[in-house]
Amino acid sequence: MAGLLVLGLWLLGLLHSSLAAHGDYHVLIDCGGYHNFSNSVNQTWMADNFFSGGAVANVSIPQNFPRQQERSLRYFPISQGKKNCYDINVPVGRYMIQMFFAYNNYDNMSHSPSFDVSVEGTVVFNWRFPWSDDSDNYGAYSDLYAFIHDGSATICFYSIGTDAPVIGSLELLQVDDAAYNASSTGQNAILVNYGRISAGNSSFGPGYDNVTDFGGRSWEADDTYTNNVKALLTSTRNVVGANVEPNYWPEKLYETCRYEQLPNVPIIYSYLVDAKLDYQIWFHFAEIDPNVTAAGQRVFNVTVNNVVVLAGLDLFQKVGLDTAFDFAYTLRNLTGGSLVISLVPQVGSPLICGIEVIAVLQADIATNVTEATAMHALKTSLNVPERMGWNGDPCAPTEWDAWEGVTCNLAADGSSLVITHMNIADQGLSGVLPPELTYLSHLISLNASSNKISGPFPATFGEGSLVSLDLSFNALEGPIPPSMGSPRMQHLRLNNNRLAGPVPESVYAIGVHGGYVNLADNQGLCGVPSLPDCPYKWKHEGMSPAAKAVLIIGVLLAAAIIVGGAYVYIQRRKAQEDYNFNLPHQLVERTKWYQQHKMTKQADPEGVSMIQSSIPNRFGFSSNIAARE
Ligand SMILES: *[C@@H]1O[C@H](CO)[C@@H](O)[C@H](O)[C@H]1NC(C)=O
Ligand SMILES: *[C@@H]1O[C@H](CO)[C@@H](O)[C@H](O)[C@H]1NC(C)=O
Ligand SMILES: *[C@@H]1O[C@H](CO)[C@@H](O)[C@H](O)[C@H]1NC(C)=O
Ligand SMILES: *[C@@H]1O[C@H](CO)[C@@H](O)[C@H](O)[C@H]1NC(C)=O
Ligand SMILES: *[C@@H]1O[C@H](CO)[C@@H](O)[C@H](O)[C@H]1NC(C)=O
Ligand SMILES: *[C@@H]1O[C@H](CO)[C@@H](O)[C@H](O)[C@H]1NC(C)=O
Ligand SMILES: *[C@@H]1O[C@H](CO)[C@@H](O)[C@H](O)[C@H]1NC(C)=O
Ligand SMILES: *[C@@H]1O[C@H](CO)[C@@H](O)[C@H](O)[C@H]1NC(C)=O
Ligand SMILES: *[C@@H]1O[C@H](CO)[C@@H](O)[C@H](O)[C@H]1NC(C)=O
Ligand SMILES: *[C@@H]1O[C@H](CO)[C@@H](O)[C@H](O)[C@H]1NC(C)=O
Ligand SMILES: *[C@@H]1O[C@H](CO)[C@@H](O)[C@H](O)[C@H]1NC(C)=O
Ligand SMILES: *[C@@H]1O[C@H](CO)[C@@H](O)[C@H](O)[C@H]1NC(C)=O
Repeated sequence: MAGLLVLGLWLLGLLHSSLAAHGDYHVLIDCGGYHNFSNSVNQTWMADNFFSGGAVANVSIPQNFPRQQERSLRYFPISQGKKNCYDINVPVGRYMIQMFFAYNNYDNMSHSPSFDVSVEGTVVFNWRFPWSDDSDNYGAYSDLYAFIHDGSATICFYSIGTDAPVIGSLELLQVDDAAYNASSTGQNAILVNYGRISAGNSSFGPGYDNVTDFGGRSWEADDTYTNNVKALLTSTRNVVGANVEPNYWPEKLYETCRYEQLPNVPIIYSYLVDAKLDYQIWFHFAEIDPNVTAAGQRVFNVTVNNVVVLAGLDLFQKVGLDTAFDFAYTLRNLTGGSLVISLVPQVGSPLICGIEVIAVLQADIATNVTEATAMHALKTSLNVPERMGWNGDPCAPTEWDAWEGVTCNLAADGSSLVITHMNIADQGLSGVLPPELTYLSHLISLNASSNKISGPFPATFGEGSLVSLDLSFNALEGPIPPSMGSPRMQHLRLNNNRLAGPVPESVYAIGVHGGYVNLADNQGLCGVPSLPDCPYKWKHEGMSPAAKAVLIIGVLLAAAIIVGGAYVYIQRRKAQEDYNFNLPHQLVERTKWYQQHKMTKQADPEGVSMIQSSIPNRFGFSSNIAARE
């Protein structure tokens, strides 16, 4: 009956079965939806949750969208920041993450938006105006595999220009940790689906029909990948070796295969992909032709871009009749944007049951975890407004701007990004400086002047790398910690606050050593020249007479230099100390592929078979005609 039934069942079943090895956790989020619901196939969708901001809307022509979760959407207007995220707590593990995108003129602007999507800090999709192939009107699914190390899946959306990103639904399904050769790609790789085809004339899997795929995958019909559709072989006998860990390819995949009837003619599939990436290409075969009765009757080569990747494949000899045979080849650093797969006959005709082309993206470099923690603490503590887009990783992906006001650089060891400069002056921030601020051990300058920051300084604040600190025109209270006068500090503005107590020698000494210090307009500061003597209760912490004498001379000498030269000096010094920032990982543009190889799901979950409609335009109507429901 309904398309998603089996998916729902297997997910439930896994909780109690030995199949738990390939994952038992799933979250289905109806972005923009107000209510939890279960559909007719007992799939439980959650009301929209876990997002950092944005607003909700409905598609304008709901009849175009057969499934409830496709009809509402979340969008992120630029007024709420350039970067917004979903943060979903999930058990550590490997996940298939599937997203549904639709525009459908929900805002009456007739402009499908341009935006990027990242998963765990790595850009995975680029949507660009205009969306092609009717995907703006009917929507498109896309999926990928990623390892979630930190127990929180972070999926972020980044506006291009002033466009508002949109998302219709978001699914996370746990899969086997070892799926798709994870042991060789490593846990830092993200595998993006560039086209998962069944070499038959029909699409199947969740969203298309009720065929079980224990990996939650849907399989596209292959006709859009070849201009010479071959004859179809179908088998009603069981195929051995399907549904086994870690990939659980479904038996259905091997039950329809294509073969070439003419002698000496290859089967050719072409994919439009992006250059300079690595691709895993998985081939799925089974000898399901009962006319093949011995080894040597069907022998062929498998080639990728004219390179033989498997020579003399004889399925009967290798695995026997009706037995799944899967083979993968990794193509590294593809030159050019096309990937041509041919099955070249040696004896008899070649045969193929399915192909998956998966880009292997190395995860982008991310912010040092300690510093990211500090930045999130700062965001909360200072009530940083939504419009500043302080969501997800502060620095990653490197293709995007860091959080507003934040400058990141590559850490000296090249393994992570660190925060080196922050200018959050005059942003209406209120609250206190969190203790975690001291974790920002690479911070060279911080300007948070002209806000409403109150409370004391975190202990030991200023130690480390800070060269320039401007917290003037706030409501800071309490004493200045001696750490503020660290040897590196060159420019310190704490004027116009509510600071009190003795000024540490080290702080006053900044001026003596040619730096700049401004402590004016703090009612309670005392104990250094030009400020009142400290009351008795402070006395023992005040300055020694000798130090005072030195300082007075120093101040007199330094005054002119301070006023005139401080800025220049600091600018130079900052420049010297800046890290050399090169983008560690520049992903190629991935715009076209997505639109070419989108997976537009067609079937009506209520059970009406719409398989023929998955062949776009073949019958003279647009690809999704579920509207007739
Ligand atoms: C799946 O759909 C087919 C045809 O629509 C039907 O015959 C079959 O019973 C369904 N299977 C399940 C498990 O619902
Ligand atoms: C939806 O279900 C989740 C988990 O079962 C629950 O935490 C949440 O409160 C529910 N939301 C609504 C709007 O009912
Ligand atoms: C869905 O769940 C309900 C209650 O848990 C049950 O009665 C019903 O049979 C289930 N339907 C399907 C299609 O599994
Ligand atoms: C979307 O449509 C649903 C059902 O028709 C309705 O309850 C909801 O309020 C709509 N949402 C918006 C944002 O208009
Ligand atoms: C779009 O236009 C239609 C018809 O003019 C109107 O009913 C609808 O409220 C508009 N939607 C938005 C989001 O402006
Ligand atoms: C298998 O052999 C039979 C009898 O020769 C023939 O009719 C049929 O077309 C063959 N099938 C395939 C797939 O070649
Ligand atoms: C198949 O590959 C082998 C090894 O690369 C090669 O020697 C042979 O000529 C190929 N056969 C065909 C038909 O291309
Ligand atoms: C899969 O992993 C094995 C062992 O690590 C390796 O030999 C093989 O080349 C990998 N296959 C692909 C397609 O990456
Ligand atoms: C990929 O190939 C291009 C030229 O085709 C080369 O410049 C680049 O260094 C290669 N990258 C890697 C990672 O091998
Ligand atoms: C992050 O930065 C802290 C403080 O500099 C350092 O101790 C830690 O080793 C760094 N972590 C990583 C993963 O580089
Ligand atoms: C901090 O920012 C304010 C407002 O933009 C600016 O006036 C001030 O000069 C900055 N402080 C430093 C040390 O650059
Ligand atoms: C698929 O092919 C089979 C056998 O050639 C045919 O009976 C069926 O109608 C085809 N289905 C579609 C959707 O074209």
